[in-house]
Amino acid sequence: MPTTQHVALGERSYAIHVGGGVLRDAGALLAPLLPRPRAVVVSNPLVAAHWLAPLRASLSAAGIACETILVPDGETHKSWSTLHDLLTRLLELRAERSTTLVALGGGVVGDLTGFAAAVYQRGMPFVQVPTTLLAQVDSSVGGKTGVNHPLGKNMIGAFHQPLAVLIDTDCLSTLPDRELAAGFAEVVKTAAIRDVPFFEWLETHVPRIKARDADALVHAVAESCRIKAEIVAADEREAGERALLNFGHTFGHAIETGVGYGEWLHGEAVAAGMVMAAKLSQRLGLLAGADVERLRMLLQRAGLPVDAPRLGAERYLALMGRDKKVVAGSIRFILLRAIGDAFVTADVPESALRVILEL
Ligand SMILES: NC(=O)c1ccc[n+]([C@@H]2O[C@H](COP(=O)([O-])OP(=O)(O)OC[C@H]3O[C@@H](n4cnc5c(N)ncnc54)[C@H](O)[C@@H]3O)[C@@H](O)[C@H]2O)c1
Ligand SMILES: [Zn+2]
Repeated sequence: MPTTQHVALGERSYAIHVGGGVLRDAGALLAPLLPRPRAVVVSNPLVAAHWLAPLRASLSAAGIACETILVPDGETHKSWSTLHDLLTRLLELRAERSTTLVALGGGVVGDLTGFAAAVYQRGMPFVQVPTTLLAQVDSSVGGKTGVNHPLGKNMIGAFHQPLAVLIDTDCLSTLPDRELAAGFAEVVKTAAIRDVPFFEWLETHVPRIKARDADALVHAVAESCRIKAEIVAADEREAGERALLNFGHTFGHAIETGVGYGEWLHGEAVAAGMVMAAKLSQRLGLLAGADVERLRMLLQRAGLPVDAPRLGAERYLALMGRDKKVVAGSIRFILLRAIGDAFVTADVPESALRVILEL
């Protein structure tokens, strides 16, 4: 039986089902939720080759009519032009406002499909079926959807909550090691900002996660979703504490852009970015050196990069100035007082920041 977490958002509340083999239960789980028994699955050729057949079989067995639209694979296709093509296909299929879109794939497919669902005929229901670790623990929960613009990542989008999130950890069996590790960075992030027992569990279980032990994966994903669901329920539109989920991301985005998109995976940049944020916290007298080392060790043991590329302070400052999280001209940082205790501040002296950027 899958474990279930709830995202409590009033009439937009929904369940997150996590377990091995959940794809086989998709039809039974979704049939009571859909306004009409008609779904359009959006995926890409790579994911579809592995996981489309069991999903379709399960939907059909539950009496849900099912069509498929494939979009090209990769971050460069999380774009306005792919969105346009997807909306065109939906019109050609005569999809209705009561048809449900089902996003089968990583964060790219999930963000794109969710945004299409937000705008198609002023909004249709959608379901997330995330297949990367990153998408399972982060992007599929919380209702942030969107596409990239040439001038900035995720700059066009909407909040649109899914009807449900179905997470089959068996899907991770076909994910490359590097993608698994990158998703693990977001797991560590979630624990580091909020949950010491989970952080300790990760320290003990990192070898089992690397070995893709089924029970360990289910626990890591379910706990991450539980914590993210709590944060989203408290602050759906990121007016406050949801910003804590950006721990490591101010530096991480600078790394991603600075080295050129595609060189470092997002999660890899976030891993090195979290170490930078922890060192900055230490520099400001907030965090013990031993805690910086714990975070660094956990990420390193997972096979993630922990040393930022040397881009120079000037370049980093310029890159961070363009981050979406810059509020009223000052850069906002997520810092740690301890493992499990994060807070947001814009009050960081440039001199301390420069020391970290030159390390
Ligand atoms: N909406 C949010 O709150 C949120 C949060 C974090 C990240 N994101 C977004 O998520 C995106 C990154 O997501 P991602 O890391 O999943 O990348 P991705 O969707 O590009 O997936 C990575 C690669 O893995 C492949 N893949 C997916 N599932 C697979 C499987 N089971 N087996 C084998 N290969 C598989 C994909 O086809 C792709 O080639 C970014 O666009 C980012 O902005 C959104
Ligand atoms: Zn992230």
